[in-house]
Amino acid sequence: MTSRKPIKKAVFPVAGLGTRFLPATKAIPKEMLPIIDRPLIQYAVDEAREAGIEQMIFVTGRGKSAIVEHFDIAFELEATMRERGKDLSILDSSRATPGDIITVRQQVPMGLGHAIWCARAIVGDDPFAIFLPDELMIGAPGCMKQMVEAYNEVGGNLISVLEVPMEEVSSYGVIDPGEANGALTEVKGLVEKPPRDKAPSNKIISGRYILQPEVMRTLEGQEKGAGGEIQLTDAMAKMIGQQPFHAVTFAGRRFDCGSKIGFVEATLALALEREDMGEEVRSMAKRLLD
Ligand code: UTP
Repeated sequence: MTSRKPIKKAVFPVAGLGTRFLPATKAIPKEMLPIIDRPLIQYAVDEAREAGIEQMIFVTGRGKSAIVEHFDIAFELEATMRERGKDLSILDSSRATPGDIITVRQQVPMGLGHAIWCARAIVGDDPFAIFLPDELMIGAPGCMKQMVEAYNEVGGNLISVLEVPMEEVSSYGVIDPGEANGALTEVKGLVEKPPRDKAPSNKIISGRYILQPEVMRTLEGQEKGAGGEIQLTDAMAKMIGQQPFHAVTFAGRRFDCGSKIGFVEATLALALEREDMGEEVRSMAKRLLD
């Protein structure tokens, strides 16, 4: 196996407007909405850490400062908790190692591809991961860890995919699959939101990527695509054939927390599984259904 540059950097695009959650997201970033007691961004950062990633690059915009504050030390809060003899370990995962959170600004939300491009100076010449924090990926090991393991085998570019019923494909980015080997499928093409009868597969792109730094140069001169936005899918599609490109079928569950139904489903599913509240939630749900 040839040695590959390890994946140490991750980009978290968090500059979107979150219009589907208005008015909740008028003053609070969508990524700070909690699934029970952890904000969405925390699940994504924990998944990155589990995969060995050390530098978290947030692409933020106006009104998103709460995301950065979440990973800071809350001095007054901690002092008061200490005085009252409260357990501070509950805050551990929200405390960043000094220097490992970096923010760049996307002044105008011009699309996911543009948001990623805004991180080009920090990404430099390294391969890097991308996390869309509103897609909650639950698995053991986590989704990015599964992808990093695949990357160590094949290198190049990787996207996480999962299979959906054919009638749902037109809402997503879909891969044109080549040869498959276990969880790995070669990617021959990518299509954004194809009509059902034109979709090359039912494997949809979910919100985790490992990309080579060349994607930044591809994004540089890219025209606007679907919805008048600079699309990451278009830039990735251009790299196919020039560099290895694979999809990893995620062994786990994905919740689309950018939509209200997905958000409620994630909350219920995770609450039912929690040791500290699962049973109570189950009987509450039964009561409500009756
Ligand atoms: P979405 O398509 O979910 O858009 O973006 P959104 O603005 O967050 O939400 P809605 O559709 O208005 O409700 C997918 C991811 O890309 C980021 C978002 O923050 C989200 O994590 N994004 C999107 C940016 O950072 N910048 C953009 O210009 C667009």
